[in-house]
Parts: sequence; structure tokens; C-alpha cells
Amino acid sequence: MTKILVTGGAGYIGSHVVHLLARRNFIPIVYDNFSTGFRDFVEEFDVIEGDIGDYQHVSEVLKSHDIACVMNFASYIAVGESVNKPLMYYDNNVAKTFTMFRAMLDADVKRFIFSSSAAVYGTPEEVPISEDSRLHPESPYGKTKYFIEEVLRDLDISDQFKSVSLRYFNAAGADPSGQMGEGHVPETHLIPLVMRAVLDPEYTITIFGTDYDTEDGTCVRDYIHVNDLAMAHILALENLMKTPATRVYNLGNGLGFSVKEVIDSVKRVTGKDLSVKEGERRPGDPAVLVASASRAREELGWDPEYPDIDEIVRSAWNWESQQRRRGY
Ligand SMILES: NC(=O)c1ccc[n+]([C@@H]2O[C@H](COP(=O)([O-])OP(=O)(O)OC[C@H]3O[C@@H](n4cnc5c(N)ncnc54)[C@H](O)[C@@H]3O)[C@@H](O)[C@H]2O)c1
Repeated sequence: MTKILVTGGAGYIGSHVVHLLARRNFIPIVYDNFSTGFRDFVEEFDVIEGDIGDYQHVSEVLKSHDIACVMNFASYIAVGESVNKPLMYYDNNVAKTFTMFRAMLDADVKRFIFSSSAAVYGTPEEVPISEDSRLHPESPYGKTKYFIEEVLRDLDISDQFKSVSLRYFNAAGADPSGQMGEGHVPETHLIPLVMRAVLDPEYTITIFGTDYDTEDGTCVRDYIHVNDLAMAHILALENLMKTPATRVYNLGNGLGFSVKEVIDSVKRVTGKDLSVKEGERRPGDPAVLVASASRAREELGWDPEYPDIDEIVRSAWNWESQQRRRGY
């Protein structure tokens, strides 16, 4: 069976991919420094603690495990934090990724799947956003994703790597098992924060901007269920192993939901009310970010199973409930 090294595989999205890889008869090997990941997300798998910036260790792991492809989720992910600590982001998401690339080349591992982001587009000129839309990242985080994609293009031209970059929109929801879910610390994503407002009467959710040019005045985003993301990784991997070619795909629902619609969905799903206040717009927040994912649908045969916002929220609520039962 084919062995896949999943760097950052103990995190939110990586762990969902690890579980699906195993169900699809691949052997996932998790490589994670546990800076934000969780051991119990992947307790039944082969887990190696390490940092992608450790050339010696990554080389040893790649060579001793006969790895066919690396899937890289290892990165820092908070846009706001990247503005305040750019070097920390360039170091972890770019410099260390280069080190891992060197180790891969030396170990003759030439297939790579990369967690990119809608942040490479910045404020879009058109919506829905296609892969050919202008790339104009506005935060250090978005730039780290853009730089790696550029390097992957060069490695393709030099015929050293074939890769797939997957530009996720807003990952959301959780596996029905309740074993893993969104556990970022600090959390910056809307759905878990709205749930926090449901669970903690002291916490108020702030809507940043209610005067955008959208139907209800609040920002619209494209929420894609984490298991749909995971399936896209499997399809991209199978395709890459069959036909080695460097590709880029958007991964989104193509459906936008406003901040107010997400809050209403959480109220419907949980049957509970929560405290909401309206605040000023945040700098750099575009009004609407919605993907065109037709390329992934056509070329990979990807068909998201959970486009409905209530279903996405219900799965996230199930995870939150399991967390509470476990006493987190
Ligand atoms: N969550 C989203 O909505 C979203 C959207 C677009 C793109 N992405 C990208 O998807 C990937 C995964 O995001 P996530 O939400 O699962 O984040 P996460 O923080 O839950 O997972 C990241 C994992 O990488 C590990 N890690 C970080 N730096 C490492 C290093 N130097 N060496 C080894 N392991 C390291 C962490 O311990 C963690 O387990 C990231 O690359 C992120 O930029 C996420």
C-alpha cells in the first residue's frame, strides 16, 4: 500500500485527511511538531513528532518509510497574527517548507500536495473567484501561500516536483465521529466563535461591519465542510499518482453565507440564543469571498457532500458537544 507523509496531520484539516486516507487504503504517516495539533485526533495511526524545518529528521523519515507523496498541512494559519508577527510566518510557512523540499529532493520524493488558501487572492476583482483570478495576497499569511505556490511552479518547470496546490476557502464542520474538529487556540474562525457565544453567556460575538454591499450588510464567505476538503485531497492524490502534473484547484462550495446567516444557522441548530454586537469593519476584510470550484469538479470529479450550512454547523456542534462530554 502507498505511504503518504502527512505533515501537520495532527491538526484540524490534516487529521480529517489522515482518517480518510486510511479508509481509502493508503498508509498515512503523521509528522507533526504539536505546536497546535492534538495527539488524540490521530491516536490510531503511526505518528512521528518532528518539525518540518529539521532537515536531518525529515530526510530520515522519508528514506526509512519509502514515502510516495508528502501532503503538507504544517503551517501557522492566523491572518491577523501574521500581520503582527510576519517573520514568524515566513520562517514556519516558507523557510521551513523549503527545508522540507530539500529533504524531499534528496530522498527522491517528487510528489507534493499543498494546503494553499483563498488568501492568495486578497480582495477579488470578480466573484465567484476562479483559479485564473488575479493573485494579490494582502497579509503575510496569504503571501506565504503565494510564495510556496510560485516555488512549486518553478520546481515543476525544472521537473523536480509535481504538485497539487489546493486553495481552501473557509474550512468548517467536523467528522461525524466527533474524534476531531476545530480546536485552534486562539480560535479566529466564525463558526466555533459563534458556538462559544452559545456556550458561554459571558462571551459576545462581534459582527465586524454591517454596511457591506451584501444582502444583509455583513460579509459573505464560502464555508466548505472539512470532510469535503479531505475527499478533494484523496482525489488530487490519486490523480497526481496516475498523471504527474502540477495543478492548482479552488476548494469551496460556490455558495456564500453571510455572518448573520451563520449566526442564524447556529441558533437554529442549537436551539439556543446568544449575545451579538455590531462592530466596525476590520481592515482588509473583503465583502464577498466565494469560490468557483468548477475546475476541481470537472478534472477531479469532486462533488461536495455537505453544501448546506445547517449540516456543516450541526457537525461542528456535534464536535463541540463531544468536547464538553470529554471535559475539555
Ligand atoms: N482552517 C482553514 O479554514 C484553512 C483555510 C485555508 C487554508 N488552510 C491551511 O490548511 C492547513 C491546515 O490548517 P488547520 O486549520 O488544520 O490548522 P491547524 O493549526 O489545526 O493544523 C496545523 C498543524 O501543523 C502543525 N505544524 C505547524 N507548524 C509545524 C512545523 N513547523 N512542523 C511540523 N508540524 C507543524 C501543527 O502542530 C498542527 O497540527 C494550513 O496550512 C492552513 O494554512 C486552512
